Amino acid sequence: VYATTADVHKKRQASGPRDRGFVGEMRALAMSLHTRDQAKEGEREADAPPIAKWEPSVEGYLRFLANSKVVHDALETIVQEAAYPCYAEFRNTGLERSEKLAKDLEWFRDQGHAIPEPSSPGVSYASYLEEISKKDPQAFICHFYNVYFGHTAGARMIGRKVAEKILDNKELEFYKWDGDLSQVLQNVRDKLNRVASNWSREEKDRCLEETRKSFHGVLLGPTLPSLLS
Ligand code: HEM
Repeated sequence: VYATTADVHKKRQASGPRDRGFVGEMRALAMSLHTRDQAKEGEREADAPPIAKWEPSVEGYLRFLANSKVVHDALETIVQEAAYPCYAEFRNTGLERSEKLAKDLEWFRDQGHAIPEPSSPGVSYASYLEEISKKDPQAFICHFYNVYFGHTAGARMIGRKVAEKILDNKELEFYKWDGDLSQVLQNVRDKLNRVASNWSREEKDRCLEETRKSFHGVLLGPTLPSLLS
């Protein structure tokens, strides 16, 4: 059962800085789409084995990282090119991951691993992002928010568990940010709120509607356990 807009509004009242403004609406909807075993605020029943049961392999993890690289390259190119002027706000936020991923892949190469070519989940999600970024800024911003913010939360937790199992606890650059991450996140929330303050209610709803797609398309979504194993 999915949250209704009314539920989302009700939840937003118990709030901190990350729940304010339009970002608060995006966050409440994103949290409701988590399963209960993924996050406390999740509302969906589990549809995949719990993370503790995942069996990641180095090969699978490299597949995930190589795919993440194409997705992050696409995100960074889109905001650099700024098909819509509002994207330019999101250049050099401090959340960028491409360079970090390049370093991680290089580290694996130095350890003697072959780096796979990116495959369908990453390549098709990246081209979907390119496509919508040119015609649907509200949808693009929804993915931008979910990819970057989801990465600092769930993906980071998963990264730690995977590292425990197969990398002797090595912490990858993918999960490190320069400076104070909570401040970086707050700056981006402020920018998102500023951009969305120019949107009509219809445009805001258009953005929120894309949340479900971002959960399915993004590499952190349902394809992740098989990508990693
Ligand atoms: C936040 C777990 C997948 C987007 C969170 C939080 C957890 C979590 C524990 C933190 C809640 C808090 O701090 O109160 C997970 C796990 C996942 C997963 C275990 C998969 C196995 C996803 C996916 C997306 C996503 C697929 C979107 C594409 C978000 C967003 C937030 C969040 C936007 C809010 C971050 C913020 O407020 O700063 N997730 N998540 N997550 N997650 Fe996920």
